[in-house]
Amino acid sequence: MSLKDDFPILSREVNGHPLVYLDNAATTQKPQVVIDAMSQYYSNSNANVHRAVHTLAGEATEGYEDCRRWIKSWFNAEKAILTGGTTEAINLVAHGWGRANLQAGDAIVLTEMEHHSDIVPWQILSEERGIEIRYVPVLDDFTLDMEAYIASLENAKLVCVVHTSNVLGVRNPVDELISLAHKAGAKILIDAAQAVPHDRIDFEQFNADFMAFSAHKMCGPTGIGALLVKNDAFEQMQPFMGGGDMIESVTTSGSTYQKNEHKFEAGTPKIAEAVGWSAAFDWMSKIDLPAHHERLLNIAKWTAEQLRGLGFTVYGRHQSGDGAVVSFLHPTIHSEDFARFLDAKGFAVRTGHHCAQPLLNRLGITGTIRASFYLYNTQDEAEKFIQIVQYIVEKFA
Ligand SMILES: Cc1ncc(COP(=O)(O)O)c(C=O)c1O
Repeated sequence: MSLKDDFPILSREVNGHPLVYLDNAATTQKPQVVIDAMSQYYSNSNANVHRAVHTLAGEATEGYEDCRRWIKSWFNAEKAILTGGTTEAINLVAHGWGRANLQAGDAIVLTEMEHHSDIVPWQILSEERGIEIRYVPVLDDFTLDMEAYIASLENAKLVCVVHTSNVLGVRNPVDELISLAHKAGAKILIDAAQAVPHDRIDFEQFNADFMAFSAHKMCGPTGIGALLVKNDAFEQMQPFMGGGDMIESVTTSGSTYQKNEHKFEAGTPKIAEAVGWSAAFDWMSKIDLPAHHERLLNIAKWTAEQLRGLGFTVYGRHQSGDGAVVSFLHPTIHSEDFARFLDAKGFAVRTGHHCAQPLLNRLGITGTIRASFYLYNTQDEAEKFIQIVQYIVEKFA
């Protein structure tokens, strides 16, 4: 049995060819156990959480809270707020922490490498509050300009930085970024959307104040993610959304709020998704993640070398710790045409700006083709991919 057999979708054909799924940085596929857990939940235990005393409500509550337990133990975190994903988690920091702690004239630090979900919420807040946003430039070797980072920290209140770039696969020097931010008196949020699928981060040791990520990039369902928060930052947060479940009491003259994570989870939460995510954690707990990551990085590195040999420009460096992502462009063949041809042969890749337009502007391009590898991908698939790419180049260049 190969690991691939756990994923029903991977046995399907696309356009008459076996599917080779290389769009994992966008979302990963789901093992059967995740699909079954969600279906079981709806078939057997569906109810609302935290409210009724009946058996189904108890099972639903247990299923939902079990996911929080998985997250807390997987990442060694004291506070885990369940959100709709990385985007919602970052918006929660912008609204829940930012509004309560940032005033006109305060500065926050972003980088040119951020995903739009770590730029736009801050721009919205900046327009509302008059906050200054400083961007750390990306250098020609695809790394952050650390001198500029240090300079940008002066009187900054918050740093928001991507752990691993979804375009370049570059892993930023997060430990150094965190310790420099703290030395300067700033809090720091890490966008770990592309990191957690490949790495088990110990949030306590990691020492960031906030960390955001999504379930769907680590074999879990779409529509759910988490924000990990250090206790002191948690105490500084105000609710972002008001409604049911997040309150202690409500009167016509005002409300008091829950003290724990529920304070930030207003309304009926993502219960089936939480149950599915728990099943994904359980499945992943049987996988040697670091060993797979090394294997996938080697596949990405090999693929990048082959592409360079075929005349492509590759954006990224594929050093130890980097993501298994290869972004590339051909000098004459249009990316969309390329991706359509690949799709016709069963290969799923992503094209476009990957929700990182400032980074692409910095690189002087408008988009790339991106192949991203995950646990079920193999060197054999990469070799088949390169054969097709070579065929396309020979035919159309
Ligand atoms: C680095 C990074 N940050 C944030 C996101 C947004 O994640 P989501 O769409 O799950 O909220 C993504 C998704 O591609 C990402 O790659």
